[in-house]
Amino acid sequence: EQIEKGGYDHFMLKEIYEQPDAITDTFRGRMLVDKGIVKMAGIDDNLEKFLNARRIIIVACGTSWHAGLVAEYIFEEFARIPVEVEYASEFRYRNPIVYKDDVVIAISQSGETADTMAAIKLAKDQGAFVFGVCNVVGSSISRETHAGAYTHAGPEIGVASTKAFTTQITILTLIALKLAKHKGTLSNSEFRAYLQELERIPAKVAKALKSNEQAEHVASQYKDASNALYLGRGYNFPVALEGALKLKEISYIHAEGYPAAEMKHGPIALIDEQMPVVVIATKKGHYEKVVSNVEEIKARSGKIIGIVTEGDEEVKKLADHVIEIPETLEPFTPLLATIPLQLLSYHIAVMLEKNVDQPRNLAKSVTVE
Ligand code: G6P
Repeated sequence: EQIEKGGYDHFMLKEIYEQPDAITDTFRGRMLVDKGIVKMAGIDDNLEKFLNARRIIIVACGTSWHAGLVAEYIFEEFARIPVEVEYASEFRYRNPIVYKDDVVIAISQSGETADTMAAIKLAKDQGAFVFGVCNVVGSSISRETHAGAYTHAGPEIGVASTKAFTTQITILTLIALKLAKHKGTLSNSEFRAYLQELERIPAKVAKALKSNEQAEHVASQYKDASNALYLGRGYNFPVALEGALKLKEISYIHAEGYPAAEMKHGPIALIDEQMPVVVIATKKGHYEKVVSNVEEIKARSGKIIGIVTEGDEEVKKLADHVIEIPETLEPFTPLLATIPLQLLSYHIAVMLEKNVDQPRNLAKSVTVE
């Protein structure tokens, strides 16, 4: 097992560090930046279905559901297709409305999650076209769907999902870009700019990983907290949810992710000097509005951990700690902002001597409902 961990103390840390390569493997051969083409057989063979889709319905569980939320923002922005994101377990029992011209995208690292599988069967029964995004090749979900695309992240052993999340976002971004190109919803220059930036993302993730020591320091300050709040807006809202989930899963500290603007409708009542608040406040993510949220937290003596864009000045003045990530185009922020949050929860769990790779009560693939 030590050999499999490749010199890292835990699979989770190894998998966090594998992300630059995993993301590259996801777009390798699919993204031809010079030619301005995205090639994906599963989409090319079913292009009309996607282009004529009334809606895209994404079904998933856990971290894969968070990737689906990021994809909702990306699909709607790039390809102007309405998207619904559903917990598979709710969708399957809700008697949902599914049209024959809906495209359902099922996202699952393992490809074995029982609720996601049931949601797929329901959608197929109602005549929708179902596309799978799985990591495990040959998995049940990859076989049950009409077509699909693998993330090619390599085996993920740690129960808390890391590289599966960022590679799911990557592949969904490629799909959205491809559809946008065919639909003409992005200009040629926008399309090329996104492709070029996506190609730079692995190097930027590698840079974001340099925040490891800072994340460790922040972890040492807050490891004994009993609660934590994660806030973000826009593309960073799902990142906040995922950051909170990572902390809950492996450190057993209660954490909530919230859209920053919703804080005034509840969570702000919880803020006092005991409450660490992780705020994702990147330059292009409704920055000024998030800064005013940070001011509100500060006024109530909350402890502020800001995830900011390199060179940030404003949040730095207000926050107790900041962790910088490289600048990127707004839709790609989740791929970078997630990194320090993964590291933060990892270090807290290690410091609390929890079982990082196999947290209590959780399973890597949930094959029962
Ligand atoms: C379990 C795992 C999570 C995962 C979720 C969905 O809860 O512990 O890490 O996000 O299942 O799994 P899937 O394989 O469908 O992505």
